[in-house]
Amino acid sequence: MTEIAEPHEPWWMTGVIYQIYPRSFSDSNADGIGDLRGIEQRLGYLESLGVDAIWLSPIFPSPMADFGYDVADYTGVDPLFGTLDDLDTLIAAVHARGMKLILDYVPNHSSSQHPWFLESRSSRNNPKRDWYIWRDPAPGGGVPNNWISDFGGSSWEWDEATGQYYLHAFLKEQPDLNWRNPEVRAAMIEVLRFWLDRGVDGFRMDVLWHIIKAQGLPDNPINPDYHYGMGQRDEVLQTNSTDQPEVHEIAAEMRRLADSYAGDRVLIGEIYLPTPKLMEYYGTAEAPEVQQPFNFQLIGFPWTAPGLAKLISEYDAAIPPFGWPNWVLGNHDRPRIADRVGEAQARIAAMLLLTLRGAPTVYYGDELGIGRVEIPPDRVQDPAELRQPGIGLNRDPVRTPMPWDGTPNAGFTSGEPWLPLNADWKTRNVAAQIDAPGSMLTLYRRLLALRRTHPALSLGDWRLSPCEGDVLAYERQHADDRLLIVLNLGARPQRVAAPAWAVGGTVMLSTLDSAPMLNGDTLTLHPNEGLIIAPKAA
Ligand code: NOJ
Repeated sequence: MTEIAEPHEPWWMTGVIYQIYPRSFSDSNADGIGDLRGIEQRLGYLESLGVDAIWLSPIFPSPMADFGYDVADYTGVDPLFGTLDDLDTLIAAVHARGMKLILDYVPNHSSSQHPWFLESRSSRNNPKRDWYIWRDPAPGGGVPNNWISDFGGSSWEWDEATGQYYLHAFLKEQPDLNWRNPEVRAAMIEVLRFWLDRGVDGFRMDVLWHIIKAQGLPDNPINPDYHYGMGQRDEVLQTNSTDQPEVHEIAAEMRRLADSYAGDRVLIGEIYLPTPKLMEYYGTAEAPEVQQPFNFQLIGFPWTAPGLAKLISEYDAAIPPFGWPNWVLGNHDRPRIADRVGEAQARIAAMLLLTLRGAPTVYYGDELGIGRVEIPPDRVQDPAELRQPGIGLNRDPVRTPMPWDGTPNAGFTSGEPWLPLNADWKTRNVAAQIDAPGSMLTLYRRLLALRRTHPALSLGDWRLSPCEGDVLAYERQHADDRLLIVLNLGARPQRVAAPAWAVGGTVMLSTLDSAPMLNGDTLTLHPNEGLIIAPKAA
């Protein structure tokens, strides 16, 4: 008999996070843009889906140059999304359902409309001048160094009135804060305290590895692998503009603050770095940093069984003894999983995400298998696409409204949605999938339910099984709870020898709604099939 996990592990280890892009989840006031009340109305759905926590992309007052990642007030709510009262109500409602709420914290840069920046740019003598990164032109004139914005063009913007440049790693409407200034650091730590006091359960921290730049702001090295089709940002390596040693002390301070609150508050760092560098953001056992340095490897990696086996083994082995892994298939910046690998393999990806060792984050709409959404040129919203068109940087296709049902605008809004819906919304929506046995949503719900009842899945060890060709197989085990996961990453049937302990076992779940084929010690997988197998009861 399987024992249920003891609830003493922090929720962020065993729990599943669900990312909401608030503009696109549910609109309660017919302006075509999702809002906090809309989210509150959908909490029943999220609870029944079986997720544990909700992360909201930014909901703070913002001119929306980068759709909220340009924050003009770190401790308020943009009227588009509602009020601070609405947020308090949402936090309480989420908690009443036994779930957690995570906010997005944007420490690297504010909006150029933030009062801090307005003061900073008002004169060279303003007390907040040094809150941002201002420099004179280079000796011969022109920008102070060769840093390139993530959205293309120089990272420097000239300010005519005060005769200096300011730094912006993203849009010029997103000036970088100067985290080497102790007043900035104190003010930004206060922001965390403000929300922790209000009861939020943690933060996803935007571009955490960017916040400290190398002293003296030296040029970045030229990228020897730059090639046509890459964004301008990649012309140089971000060696001096990101990932400086001093960031770790700041992350540790943030963690000390989070840990001073009851309830296992979580810090999740958005960090795009190779595994060894990523691991540094766990900190040390004595000075821990973020609990989850986001692991984006499944997003950028070719979808092959040997490749994934290597990636997962190496990542799992690199986790420090006091750390816990995490996994992500998609987010509001990267193409959706069903677009990348196709719908049949997106089912395998769902099983992989929810059965690996570590905390998974599910991106809204992936549980419906939403694929590529075409955005007509006259409806493009994303500044990344508008500034560097046509090279695949558009993030609008992954930010389209959540399709709830078959009513006009898929029940997302009674107004005009800010982005088009997925073309197949009439059939690909929550209402159509929720009771359909073979739907993606049913698969997600069943996987999430299995995670709750099997400590092997939520807490267990991970061991790669010998596998060949298109098959990826691994075991999860916690105490006497043991499961075998076998995934066919190809479109042909596969035969696999079951390990002795799984012979005669029971198929707990197949990604396909078909009869599993177990024959003695041989498993036959249908094309694109994944199985979770429990041993024969003792
Ligand atoms: C990362 C966020 O995920 C992305 O959406 C945003 O544009 C940049 N950071 C700048 O904040």
